[in-house]
Amino acid sequence: MLKIFENNRKWVQEKLAEDKNYFKKLTTGQKPEYLFIGCADSRIQASEITGTGPGEMFVHRNIANMVVHTDINMLSVLQYAVEVLKVRHIMVVGHYGCGGVAAAMEDKEHGLIDNWLTNIRDVVRLHELEFLRIKDEGEKFRRLVELNVIEQVRNLSKTSIIQNAMHSENPPQLHGLVYDIGEGLLKDLNWKMDEIKRFEHIYGIHGENHTAEPNTGEEETVDILKVS
Ligand code: CO
Repeated sequence: MLKIFENNRKWVQEKLAEDKNYFKKLTTGQKPEYLFIGCADSRIQASEITGTGPGEMFVHRNIANMVVHTDINMLSVLQYAVEVLKVRHIMVVGHYGCGGVAAAMEDKEHGLIDNWLTNIRDVVRLHELEFLRIKDEGEKFRRLVELNVIEQVRNLSKTSIIQNAMHSENPPQLHGLVYDIGEGLLKDLNWKMDEIKRFEHIYGIHGENHTAEPNTGEEETVDILKVS
């Protein structure tokens, strides 16, 4: 731990050398435009990969960047970000090579975390037909990382917080991204906000605009999502 404190003191000196009011300025408050929901993986530095500085991005992280409807921690972060900080963009950021996603693909016991990973196994069930078609294990792994992100963005859109925000003047935009650890690049999975309308007859909580046609197809419609 000595290293941590030494590095901290050094960093403070460097920041003060650049701007003697650096820390004083930060005490006036925060006005972040973004909420980043990412994996706890130590290789992902939320601020660094997005070029955002202190005060610019609110951050929530857990194993495999999950949005679980009963997770009071995530819901509290989301409510504060949307209703108090009024962030403009919310991004769920997955990453290729995610250990949580890999563990969910294994038919073996990992302990308590298996209950958390079940949420990822649900993503496999929702997209089972697509997964059956993918023969290459590496490709399957990458696709599960992507589909997991999309399902977590969907989970966000179902929350009462986002459902209510959609009725406000300026609702935040939701985004699904994947980070490639081996390249450093962020990829947009092009999830579109229109989808909230498509599923409003199921997830809507305001008793209106329930005009969308129910999806009667046997296959999950969303597998048509194109990845850029
Ligand atoms: Co991960």
